[in-house]
Amino acid sequence: MTAPVLQVEKLIKHFPVVRGVLRHTVGQIKAVDGVSFDLRAGETLCLVGESGCGKSTVGRTLVKLMQPTAGRIVLAGVDVTHLDDTAMRPHRRRIQMVFQDPYASLNPRLTAGEIVGEPLENYEALAGAAKDEKVAALLEKVGLRAEAMVKYPFEFSGGQRQRLGLARALALRPAVIVADEPVSALDVSVQAQVINLMMDLQEEFNLAYLFISHDLGVVEHIGHRIAVMYLGRIVELADKEALFAKPLHPYAEALIAAAPIADPRARRDQLVIEGDVPSPMNPPSGCHFHTRCPYAVARCRVEDPPLREVAPERWVSCHLREPAAPAAAI
Ligand SMILES: Nc1ncnc2c1ncn2[C@@H]1O[C@H](COP(=O)(O)OP(=O)(O)OP(=O)(O)O)[C@@H](O)[C@H]1O
Ligand SMILES: [Mg+2]
Repeated sequence: MTAPVLQVEKLIKHFPVVRGVLRHTVGQIKAVDGVSFDLRAGETLCLVGESGCGKSTVGRTLVKLMQPTAGRIVLAGVDVTHLDDTAMRPHRRRIQMVFQDPYASLNPRLTAGEIVGEPLENYEALAGAAKDEKVAALLEKVGLRAEAMVKYPFEFSGGQRQRLGLARALALRPAVIVADEPVSALDVSVQAQVINLMMDLQEEFNLAYLFISHDLGVVEHIGHRIAVMYLGRIVELADKEALFAKPLHPYAEALIAAAPIADPRARRDQLVIEGDVPSPMNPPSGCHFHTRCPYAVARCRVEDPPLREVAPERWVSCHLREPAAPAAAI
């Protein structure tokens, strides 16, 4: 097996909560609280979970839009965790991000050609005809016409804008693309087109995707492996087929039960589990999920279950899933 292109170890991102004119820190929002996974070339790892569980924060931290509180990020073998903007520069091109709302993430005052050409100018010092040629090829690669170069973002449809976002992300031939809900804002009919384009691009460039979504239908279509997050932690990490066939973590089970997956184009509603997600400022003791877990026992309230490999390539964080006796306890 090839070495992972991205290794994430015990990633933590806490946001201080400040109050009053003196801006005292009164607590920490534990948005990401010890997340570990590997991402291999050519694979799609999907990050799923309820709103607020920390998916976007993982993504933003990995592309260094924000500095992690602790943990380690190794990109193509290089530890980039503590690199500042200048030191990060040669590595930044290896990992790019695509956002949910391409309209908000594309500069409205730049033309499509300028948007896609900007990274080429900055990183490869391309200009003039050489740059235009490369921009035209990138636009065509994502299914836009080269003539679209002179248009502004508002002149494109939502799906076309997301194609433009992909062209920009691809410009520097990254190894990893973090896609944060890239199709959630699009019409259902357009979602499948953009997903299929992403899958084609993955195959052509051997891209690794960290694909963030709460739509299990989309995830079922594009994912190879799935990481289920709950309150800042991964509770289950498994192959897509294995997870959908038999989720082992009670939260993953509830998530999948609430969203039967058959038609990947159908929109899914948010999952339905009793009770609200507890505050990430004050997460429950022991297993974060115990307050909503139908199977919780006394131990779950006090002891935090580690994420353990209960079967090959199958990681679960649950006291009721001892590696020795999988499936028997529940
Ligand atoms: N810049 C920030 N400052 C303070 N708190 C933040 C910040 N960004 C996120 N949070 C908090 O961190 C937690 C995780 O947020 P995040 O946006 O990562 O969740 P998410 O899983 O992406 O949710 P959604 O599905 O709604 O996009 C939330 O409680 C959120 O309010
Ligand atoms: Mg988010």
